Amino acid sequence: MLIAPSLLSCDFSRFGEEISRMDKAGADFMHLDVMDGHFVPNITFGAPVIKWVRKYSDKTFDVHLMISNPLKYIDDFADAGADIITFHVEADSDIQATIDKIKSHGIKAGLVIKPNTPAEVVFPYLDQLYMVLVMTVEPGFGGQSFMEDMLPKVTAIRKKAERQGLSDLLIQVDGGIGEGNIRKAYEAGVDVCVAGTSVFKAEDASLAIKNMKDKCI
Ligand code: DX5
Ligand code: ZN
Repeated sequence: MLIAPSLLSCDFSRFGEEISRMDKAGADFMHLDVMDGHFVPNITFGAPVIKWVRKYSDKTFDVHLMISNPLKYIDDFADAGADIITFHVEADSDIQATIDKIKSHGIKAGLVIKPNTPAEVVFPYLDQLYMVLVMTVEPGFGGQSFMEDMLPKVTAIRKKAERQGLSDLLIQVDGGIGEGNIRKAYEAGVDVCVAGTSVFKAEDASLAIKNMKDKCI
């Protein structure tokens, strides 16, 4: 299981150091939650901030766009150093045009579905994607409870990908994940777990990451 700490729960007065800390703690991806106060009722940070902190780790920068018009900002996030850009199917941008734009920069593309969106919506795009993110909370805030009833969507996407011969597709879940429930995600076929609160509120982040990984063997 890959672990992607969500920097949404970090001390933003020391954003760069927090990324270094997660790097040393064994994070696989740095999960960066971009919120515009319009697609979701919260505002975080944008491309200039990501550009500033990019130098604090060589690990994969996994940028989760919770913004209404992702297409308009892909160039900025590419320039900032994103390695993966995921955006919501529920946003206003044309899905195909946005995938094409991301890939034109040599960046990996991912689609995200909110809890009320069925898995089937991503099926037509699976062969073009590096990752699908199934939200296990309503996007917008850290610290919410894990929605276990989202896991059948993970299994459905995995089955569909397998039928298409897409064995490399990554499936990610995001929201409310910790030591107590990560095993369920693993059994459903998840490859990457985002974890905000459970990693940042832990006394020892590396132990929190290790314990989560150990549950998935
Ligand atoms: C929610 C964000 C998540 C969030 C996860 O909108 O996409 O990445 O920070 O935080 P926890 O793990 O605390 O639910
Ligand atoms: Zn996220």
